[in-house]
Amino acid sequence: MRKKIVAGNWKMNLDYTSGIGLFSEIVNMVNDEVMGEQHVIVCPPYVHLGAICQLAKTHNKVSVGAQNCHQAQSGAYTGEVSAPMLQSVGVNYVILGHSERRQYFAENNALLAEKVNSALQHQLSPIFCIGETLDQRNDNSYFDVIKRQLAEGLFHLTESQFANVVLAYEPVWAIGTGLTATPEQAQEIHEFIRNEVRSKYGEGTASDLSILYGGSCNPKNAAELFAKPDIDGGLIGGASLKSRDFVDIIKSFSL
Ligand code: 13P
Repeated sequence: MRKKIVAGNWKMNLDYTSGIGLFSEIVNMVNDEVMGEQHVIVCPPYVHLGAICQLAKTHNKVSVGAQNCHQAQSGAYTGEVSAPMLQSVGVNYVILGHSERRQYFAENNALLAEKVNSALQHQLSPIFCIGETLDQRNDNSYFDVIKRQLAEGLFHLTESQFANVVLAYEPVWAIGTGLTATPEQAQEIHEFIRNEVRSKYGEGTASDLSILYGGSCNPKNAAELFAKPDIDGGLIGGASLKSRDFVDIIKSFSL
């Protein structure tokens, strides 16, 4: 069944003490205030994950995700972290294909397909990010860009593997810029994504897929975005670092 999801991507922010503090605040506020079926995911930096997974165990409404993983299971890859390591501390999700990884770490669709495979082999659900740059939006190539990201990064999966994937549409021009895609712009792409998935995997898989919007989503614009039929929640950057804002975004679904 399609889930309503709000996921917080902390990126490279917050030291250990601040991270544990923020997570505790979020858990308490979600416990007290959030009714309904929303699924909440928090994706802190690697070093916070072990402790945060322990805290999350005491509460069944908040899941934990990582922000990346390596494609290999183990080996001589100094500085990297693998999917089985994440699984071993209790992580359930992993963000893959974020535009910051594509841009600053040269991650391409072929590499991301390998990372997706490794995540799925270790029971991690990928939160797979796709989206166009400002140039690609302006030259109207954005549908092609998204089609290719899906085809090359994900469409090698079987239908049952694909059922574990969450998609996030994050237009690069809206990330951290304060420029949000309008609900209509976002809906247009989300509908396109769902149609691509429908053509590849059929109606059941397409209608069960959760597609999140990311890019300057905040408590003021979340409700309008989440009201669109193909927008199933958000992947939140800056606003996920403030517990009040993050919880208000979770509460923005019209239930
Ligand atoms: P902002 O919400 O800060 O624009 O970041 C979005 C994002 O990149 C989430 O992955």
